[in-house]
Amino acid sequence: MNYKVRFVDFPLHYHRLESEIDAAIKEVLSGGDLIMRQQLREFESNIASFVGADYAIGLNSGTDALHLSLLAAGVGPGNEVITVAHTFVATVAAIVHCRATPILVDVGEDFNMDVEQVEKAISPQTKAIIPVHLNGRLCDMERLMAIAHKHKLLVIEDAAQALGASFNGKKAGSLGLTGCFSFYPAKILGGFGDGGIVVTNNREIAEKIRLFRDHGQQRATGEVLFYGFNSRLDNLQAAILDVKLKHLPDWIERRQELAMLYEKGLSDLPQIQTPPPPQQGRYFDVYTNYVVRAEKRDELVAYLRECGIEVLISWPKPMHHQQALGLGHFHLPETERISKEVISLPLNTEISNEQVEYVIESIGEFYRD
Ligand SMILES: Cc1ncc(COP(=O)(O)O)c(C=O)c1O
Repeated sequence: MNYKVRFVDFPLHYHRLESEIDAAIKEVLSGGDLIMRQQLREFESNIASFVGADYAIGLNSGTDALHLSLLAAGVGPGNEVITVAHTFVATVAAIVHCRATPILVDVGEDFNMDVEQVEKAISPQTKAIIPVHLNGRLCDMERLMAIAHKHKLLVIEDAAQALGASFNGKKAGSLGLTGCFSFYPAKILGGFGDGGIVVTNNREIAEKIRLFRDHGQQRATGEVLFYGFNSRLDNLQAAILDVKLKHLPDWIERRQELAMLYEKGLSDLPQIQTPPPPQQGRYFDVYTNYVVRAEKRDELVAYLRECGIEVLISWPKPMHHQQALGLGHFHLPETERISKEVISLPLNTEISNEQVEYVIESIGEFYRD
């Protein structure tokens, strides 16, 4: 389909950065620097400073960032890990792949973990909590960290959608034992393929994840310390991501501007509930996704697609309703309501104000007609 407003415009995104990206690719290829080289180390160091953490370990996906964080933290059989069902399947899969048990709690109005439900979900088997900072907004980390501290639980942040967002001045990923990010192409900092990273202030955990990503082997000695994985972030991706990272603060500003345009244009429509506004000083939201709740959601989605507007639904079926996952015993009313109402509207750094106005007008027309 020939969209007038694309959800993400990958070719335009590349063309705007073409000369910088081509130069970075050329440098990597002509130096033959393909695996675990200088560009990866530089990118890791830049991400660590951007987030405000001591260490960063580049991996091949956000999924592995979660999985290896849990393994490094010692999560395994017999342990329970509390998270949400309103998330991408990877959050829950990472727990299951450690042979631990996911315990799902409901979300609140801002689509994030309802922290008040966490305490009720804690059992003697609970070892960790994975808050998911969805759509570029953090969970209430003040309350969550207090609960984790009180019950001596580990916190692994799923910050796949929250690079650059902060809460009380602290960046996503810098509050828990580890912070896990994804560089999936459509993310706020997207690669030209898969990628992810873990950040942490814990040296031992950083060292363990570094070993996990490279078959458990010490490169210097050749000694294999345990069975690991191949989960290295490609040097080429790291070099490209490092180019993009320099633009991230400007991109975040633009995203916030676009979110305010949507907010202004949609807030008078009673059929649409816009995301909660950032509370100055408390939440700094980066709008990785601009998600609204809409009456007659499925009809609206069909109408917007007819208008040439590309929208997404994340996720029409919450994880506990995915039959194959065997999580049907959870009852999560807000998650279930949300899954019937959410639409992600196009918001990216390539979109123009006029395109956003067109989306707003089209939504208004749908409800007027
Ligand atoms: C909330 C959330 N968690 C985890 C992931 C997994 O990241 P990746 O696709 O890089 O494995 C994603 C990305 O798709 C995500 O949105």
